[in-house]
Amino acid sequence: MDYQFLMEKAKEASKNSYSPYSHFPVGACVLGKSGNYYYGCNFENSSFGLTICAERNAIGNAIANGEKEIKALAVYSPNMDDCLPCGACRQVISEFSSDNGIDIITEIDNCLKIRNFNELLPGRFKL
Ligand code: THU
Repeated sequence: MDYQFLMEKAKEASKNSYSPYSHFPVGACVLGKSGNYYYGCNFENSSFGLTICAERNAIGNAIANGEKEIKALAVYSPNMDDCLPCGACRQVISEFSSDNGIDIITEIDNCLKIRNFNELLPGRFKL
């Protein structure tokens, strides 16, 4: 699995971030079960609570393109090493992740860090 490629796509997506309030750009790239890639960036709103995170944007893109299951997700911010999904995004990732979890990829000192999603949301709620 070429997670370096996934991370490069997350980096590209972060360049499209609309983050005039936080000045914290984030990009994400999802690898779907089909093998296709889907990108997302955060986009903020003057009514702050309506902000959409990069991960949820990428997942929405995957779902809109017919994916039902996610295999891996890379997250990147130029402002922070090891930029991990927020709590709300973790719950959304959970919806499309297998019970065995998926690989979550971040970057620390230019090296990839790979974690299993179940580490990030143990005891998750799922119907
Ligand atoms: N953000 C993401 O896009 N993903 C996360 O998991 C954490 C936070 C965005 C939301 C907001 O636009 C900015 O980063 C600062 O919180």
